[in-house]
Amino acid sequence: MEKLNAVLSGELMKAFESAGYDASYGKVTVSNRPDLCEYQCNGAMAAAKAYHKAPFMIADDVVAALKDSDVFSDVQVVKPGFINLKVKETFVASCLNREAQDPKLGCDDLGKGRKMIIDYGGPNVAKPLHVGHLRSAIIGESLKRIGRFAGYDVAGDVHLGDWGLQMGLIIAELRHRKPDLIYFDDTYTGEYPEDAPFTIGELEEIYPAASAKSKVDEAFAEEAHDATAMLQQGKRGYRAIWNHILNVSVADLKKNYQFLNVTFDLWKKESDAQPYIPDMIQMLKDKGLAYESNGALVVDVKEETDTKEVPPCIIVKSDGATLYSTTDLATLVEREKLFAPDYVLYVVDKRQEMHFRQVFRTARKADIVRPETKLGFLGFGTMNGKDGKPFKTRDGGVMRLEVLIREITEAVYEKIKENRTVSEEEAMDTARIVALSAIKYGDLSNQASKDYVFDVDRFTSFEGDTGPYILYTIVRIKSIIHKYEDSAEAKEVSAAGVCAARSDGEKALQLLLTRFGETVEAAFTETAPHKLCAYIYDVSNAFNKFYHETRILAEEDEAVKAGYISLLALTRKVLEISIDLLGFEAPERM
Ligand code: ARG
Repeated sequence: MEKLNAVLSGELMKAFESAGYDASYGKVTVSNRPDLCEYQCNGAMAAAKAYHKAPFMIADDVVAALKDSDVFSDVQVVKPGFINLKVKETFVASCLNREAQDPKLGCDDLGKGRKMIIDYGGPNVAKPLHVGHLRSAIIGESLKRIGRFAGYDVAGDVHLGDWGLQMGLIIAELRHRKPDLIYFDDTYTGEYPEDAPFTIGELEEIYPAASAKSKVDEAFAEEAHDATAMLQQGKRGYRAIWNHILNVSVADLKKNYQFLNVTFDLWKKESDAQPYIPDMIQMLKDKGLAYESNGALVVDVKEETDTKEVPPCIIVKSDGATLYSTTDLATLVEREKLFAPDYVLYVVDKRQEMHFRQVFRTARKADIVRPETKLGFLGFGTMNGKDGKPFKTRDGGVMRLEVLIREITEAVYEKIKENRTVSEEEAMDTARIVALSAIKYGDLSNQASKDYVFDVDRFTSFEGDTGPYILYTIVRIKSIIHKYEDSAEAKEVSAAGVCAARSDGEKALQLLLTRFGETVEAAFTETAPHKLCAYIYDVSNAFNKFYHETRILAEEDEAVKAGYISLLALTRKVLEISIDLLGFEAPERM
């Protein structure tokens, strides 16, 4: 659907042209002085240089050509040559009514026929999900939903970390604790038991214990190393333990992701990529890309334009082991084979930026991906506590995701229980929904690459730039619409449509609503969900201002009232779709 901005630019371009200037000067942008005008065109200033003419003379010519426009209600030239624009109320209303008919509310099908994989979540098996994984899950989930809305065929892949030393550590530790387990009996040839010899609770205790031990006990570190190697070579008993670890972990991860309203289409693992490695290494050698350097096999990836050193991508270490980068390259080989995606986007901690630069460059040099395939990396910053240091529990430990969610839910419950008129059960459900909005909006409203401070008090506030404020606005709109629907007049004028705005506040809201489509498109192409957050905050503010200034249900003119209700319905739809794209929902009441 053509955006209002584009329509306005079209009008100005025609005017520039008919006044004898190049049409390209007619670009219109949203005004940065909303007190003076709604849109502006600065083209006369640029044209002045080309035509050796004073900018205001050019602007005057253009404005004269706009005289009969049925789009603008006011056009002013402001020295030195700005063209300030206001749009006709009837025109804005007709745009909105067209938008309301479109299921995508004016968002284009950017990804039509294009396949995308988003690699996010990235938890490591057997290690508890902690807040470090929270950001990847939240941001990735949002981009997946936004991508789908923008027409891409998107698959979210959790890309489990199941192939590292952590597996060997657990196996070695388990061997010390329970040496009699059948998995450690090399003479055993029968079937292994179906049930795991540990629970998730035990598993999560074993890993940190083993990891700490390996740092002080060299012999143990060696055992863990050997166990990892034997597992990777396929030792039966170790494979069986590894399978147990995987199953127990995945069940727990799914439960946690469910709390977060995060779902994955693919539960692929690092280990799935391993079978592709030998052929890939051979190919890298055959193409003359991989060469030996200090006993390791590496690929040069630096480029002339680099301002920072980009070290070679290591494919095989001098001890023969493959690495994280080898696995990521092989995963691209696998993805190309299984899905042939047009776009692969990674949502990972920004400290891994260099790793992905090396992997992407190697993949391109070796034609592991097609030249037209887009490889994207969205690196996110750290979630800090109020002390400015990475978020921890009160006693300084790593905060488990479950605990964090529970604490925030309780904080919200305390707030809503004071004036609650609903059942205990409904209040708890509402608290959960609101808490999730607090966590997700608190994260997504910051530019992803920046570090941010996780401030429970601020995030759970019902006022200001927060998730609960957005939900509160939606609940308010729903309640007005319900009241209207219950009244007698409702039936006669249900399909009224938005009317020409009758106040500045109403017009400001209407103009904002015309920008939904372009905002979602920008959030996707710039991988910037924070732009959608900023937008719904503006919409919520504009709505609440309109609400306080306007007698909506008390309006006597039924046609005007019905027009208001149509405007509310569209506002509600814009906000509800937006929060769904951000990954949360609104309660019925709050
Ligand atoms: N498991 C990794 C970590 O915790 C993140 C995985 C990111 N995805 C990838 N394809 N490398 O750091």
